[in-house]
Amino acid sequence: MTEYHRLVGRYVPVPARGSVRVMTTQVRPRTFGDPDVLEVREVAEPEPGDGQVRVAVHAIDVNPWDVTSYSGRAGTDPTLLDGLGSGVSGTVSAVGPGVEAYEPGDPVTTRRVDGSSYASDVLVAEADLLPMPAGTSYETTAALFLKGGTAAHLLEATALTAGETVLVHGGAGGAGTMAVQLAVLAGARVIATAGARNADYLISLGATPVTYGEGLADRVRGAAPDGVDVAFDLVGTDEAVAVSLELVADLRRIATVVRFDAAGEHGFRALGYGPGGELGSDVRAAAAPELLRLHALGRLRVEIRHAYPLVQAARAHRDLETGHGRGALVLIARPEHG
Ligand SMILES: NC(=O)c1ccc[n+]([C@@H]2O[C@H](COP(=O)([O-])OP(=O)(O)OC[C@H]3O[C@@H](n4cnc5c(N)ncnc54)[C@H](OP(=O)(O)O)[C@@H]3O)[C@@H](O)[C@H]2O)c1
Repeated sequence: MTEYHRLVGRYVPVPARGSVRVMTTQVRPRTFGDPDVLEVREVAEPEPGDGQVRVAVHAIDVNPWDVTSYSGRAGTDPTLLDGLGSGVSGTVSAVGPGVEAYEPGDPVTTRRVDGSSYASDVLVAEADLLPMPAGTSYETTAALFLKGGTAAHLLEATALTAGETVLVHGGAGGAGTMAVQLAVLAGARVIATAGARNADYLISLGATPVTYGEGLADRVRGAAPDGVDVAFDLVGTDEAVAVSLELVADLRRIATVVRFDAAGEHGFRALGYGPGGELGSDVRAAAAPELLRLHALGRLRVEIRHAYPLVQAARAHRDLETGHGRGALVLIARPEHG
């Protein structure tokens, strides 16, 4: 066991079969449970098929769903253990038959990979790749798409327009950071909730900060005397649900990405994967190039709270499970990419 693998404590060697094979590092849950079930494995480097590109990964996006999927909280369908993650950034290391737009060495980013993204080498459909614009980083582009696509879906589903006031519950988190900024870019007035230590951060994103906790509805009324048109729930507390229902008259303009149960009960919108949720796959896919364009222009910031080595994915997941902090977490598969 190398020092690299000792960091996470579990290393499952894959015996070489036949001729010498190039191996790649992968992290996956061995069963359902807490982050201790994540194990580091060496597997054969994948070979790109028709229309696929192999990416030597530098940075990997980390999201709450990654933890939820193997926690048992989303059920115990064995396919939930098959693939963690979403976006990655890195460089092209090989292309399959029919791939024309990319060649080895190209810096690229993607919102999804074919299989699990928690790996140092992944396969991506050519159509899902985007070239990394000059001036962007592997870390920030990897963290852009799932959170930004979710935010774009929230704006689209609630038809938020310029001049309106939106309340963003959980504005300082990874997805909340995107929702606040896209709403500001759309010309809306943004009131966002967070703990007191994230107030300055929310101001820096263009929002009026309001601390969550008892009395939230009155504090929001104080910050928005003309009323609230739209509410985005990115935290899922009973408080967020109750305050949204109290302050927003039109149920179709309240959207949660967490509380599918409450949305069903009260008749407001639930977005994403869950009971009764609107998947919004087209909206989220279509948002990717625009998110990257805005980011490259410096108009959409991605705050990286911490970057963990890929083999420390369990630590990253424990960090995420605290439910507090600001911005995004990423994993680094190849520190030497810089
Ligand atoms: N359905 C979908 O498509 C979809 C997509 C993406 C995310 N999600 C869900 O959306 C949620 C947020 O995701 P994320 O990536 O933004 O998570 P995250 O980065 O872990 O969110 C943490 C943030 O939540 C804030 N927070 C904690 N308790 C709060 C409260 N009571 N009121 C307001 N804010 C509070 C924290 O602020 P403080 O540190 O200041 O306490 C922190 O900034 C997760 O539940 C995730 O599963 C769903």
